[in-house]
Amino acid sequence: MVEVTIDGQKIEVEKGTTALEAARSLGIEIPTLCYHEGLPPDGNCRLCQVEVTDARGRTNLVISCMYPIKGPVEIRTDTERVRDARAFVVKLLLARSPHSPVLQHLAEEYGVEPLDARFVPEDETDLCIRCGRCVRACATLGNNCIEFVWRGWEKEVNTPFKEPSNSCIGCGACAQVCPTGAIRVTEDETTRTIWDRTFDLVACERCGVRFATPEQLKVVSPEFKPVDGRVLCPRCRKLEEARAVASGLGAQEEN
Ligand code: SF4
Ligand code: SF4
Ligand code: FES
Repeated sequence: MVEVTIDGQKIEVEKGTTALEAARSLGIEIPTLCYHEGLPPDGNCRLCQVEVTDARGRTNLVISCMYPIKGPVEIRTDTERVRDARAFVVKLLLARSPHSPVLQHLAEEYGVEPLDARFVPEDETDLCIRCGRCVRACATLGNNCIEFVWRGWEKEVNTPFKEPSNSCIGCGACAQVCPTGAIRVTEDETTRTIWDRTFDLVACERCGVRFATPEQLKVVSPEFKPVDGRVLCPRCRKLEEARAVASGLGAQEEN
């Protein structure tokens, strides 16, 4: 364990805990965009910068989601230098994605005026901030069906050759982790469409709600394992589990 001080509060953390995790464990909020607790960190947006002073008294700006605490340090999450660094990041991101409400909100919070950019993206429906969460989510699932294509201002997330991907299972995990709502998922009563591919939706055998694609159900995970031979939606699965626990307790009481 290592003792660290964050904004004047002392806390002991396990070696290797990131500055972001340590701060959040104290309820100190640090803004993040590319970080998601269920995904490997990537450190590409740089919004989560904080100031760290090490045992030798050296102070640096670090990316808190990628900074493992190895020894006693002092972390400050809201200094003028930190706010300036974050404001600069927001300014650059806003120049590329001016239509993103998430960035507009951050710009307001950090008092950022838009850059006088030569090129202003006109597509108001493009909410993507190129954080890569969706790409990492899909890769973590082992599907790898979306990636960054092109470079610079042209850079965007898409399927290879912008064609519907055969390896996509229509799970929607990419859309769930997207911080800006940039990924379009549409559902009607029987189908879900994502990345230009339309999937059937399978009905829960208890309540009838259509909740997952057949391709998702083929992925053997506890979430989709049949219960007593029936395919159940997450809500019915929980109800059945609760019922099983309750009947088990009843049996114990009778004995
Ligand atoms: S919906 Fe397709 S692209 Fe999105 S995470 Fe699932 S498999 Fe990947
Ligand atoms: S689509 Fe969403 S998650 Fe993917 S890079 Fe863009 S903003 Fe990030
Ligand atoms: S949240 Fe840490 S670099 Fe993006």
